[in-house]
Amino acid sequence: MSDIAVLVVGGAGYIGSHSAKALKNAGFLPVVIDDISAGHAHNVKYGPLIKANMNDKAAITDAIKQYNPQAIMHFAASIEVGEGEKDPLKFYKNNVANSIALFDTAIENGVKNIVFSSTAATFGVPQSKYIDENHTQEPINTYGRTKLMVEKILIDLGKAHGVNSAILRYFNACGADPDGELGEEHNPETHLIPNVLASIAGRRTMLSIFGDDYETPDGTCVRDYVHVSDLADAHVAACKYLIENGKSIDLNLGTKNGNSVLEIMQAAERVTGLPCSREICPRRAGDPPFLVADSTKARQTIGFNPIRSDIETILKDAWNFHKKAWNI
Ligand SMILES: NC(=O)c1ccc[n+]([C@@H]2O[C@H](COP(=O)([O-])OP(=O)(O)OC[C@H]3O[C@@H](n4cnc5c(N)ncnc54)[C@H](O)[C@@H]3O)[C@@H](O)[C@H]2O)c1
Repeated sequence: MSDIAVLVVGGAGYIGSHSAKALKNAGFLPVVIDDISAGHAHNVKYGPLIKANMNDKAAITDAIKQYNPQAIMHFAASIEVGEGEKDPLKFYKNNVANSIALFDTAIENGVKNIVFSSTAATFGVPQSKYIDENHTQEPINTYGRTKLMVEKILIDLGKAHGVNSAILRYFNACGADPDGELGEEHNPETHLIPNVLASIAGRRTMLSIFGDDYETPDGTCVRDYVHVSDLADAHVAACKYLIENGKSIDLNLGTKNGNSVLEIMQAAERVTGLPCSREICPRRAGDPPFLVADSTKARQTIGFNPIRSDIETILKDAWNFHKKAWNI
């Protein structure tokens, strides 16, 4: 019997490509749909690439007819928070309107299992120390609002059309494939870990720490860093959950172990053996001091087990990938 296909929309990007690899390793055929607006064709190694926008009804319909996928993993989005503030319509068009077009084509062609990449940004300002799925969702930026809209759309599609969705809210995705085949290559890169490593490697200037006077152990902001391979495994588990149980679920994916900006820089220095120069700058508006997930529900329902998400392993895997990519 041939492998069960899964459409991986946005599968040429960072998290989608790692998830395609995890799907392949679990015996699925990952069929990537990506317009390569932000991802890289060289990330598509584990199944076919169909170069198309997710709003391309004809291309998606053809892919469904050809591969008969049992589920869609939907990673495609505009992701840079600052850009969303400057160009909100781009975000509403790509993240909301194009998602609607994708769901429309999926439903029309009978694909009713959808795993969706959502984000901690849907919660807005934390009201409790650890954020679980019952936390109020009041996003404070356009990006977060677009993701929350898609969450609500999926819930409505569940009621009206029997769509089963797994809404996965990642906290800070990071790290790289432990085999060194994939890694983080956003352009522009706004995430802390690749920028710390780029600075250490002399590829960018000194790093700014935005505020060291927060009420956290060392005064810098604390975030919940999750290894991308752990996220990829969670996607496969969520996909199986939908196929086997036929019901929807929403899960926060984190570790409950926050790390501060300073701790990340110090760990990067330990792993690389090189110094990381930094300067303290004023706080940035909208940065909560502490943003950490409670992932109890994910552990209980899909067996989420973030085994690579300790900070040393994350930095080691990321550094291995970047050393190769940067010819160090
Ligand atoms: N990286 C993180 O820390 C993080 C955290 C929370 C949530 N997320 C979400 O996870 C998802 C994946 O993030 P990522 O870091 O891998 O981003 P990425 O930019 O690396 O990947 C997104 C991919 O989607 C593709 N794409 C974008 N719009 C498309 C369209 N209309 N049609 C077809 N392809 C399209 C891009 O070319 C790219 O390959 C996003 O939805 C993002 O919002 C990411």
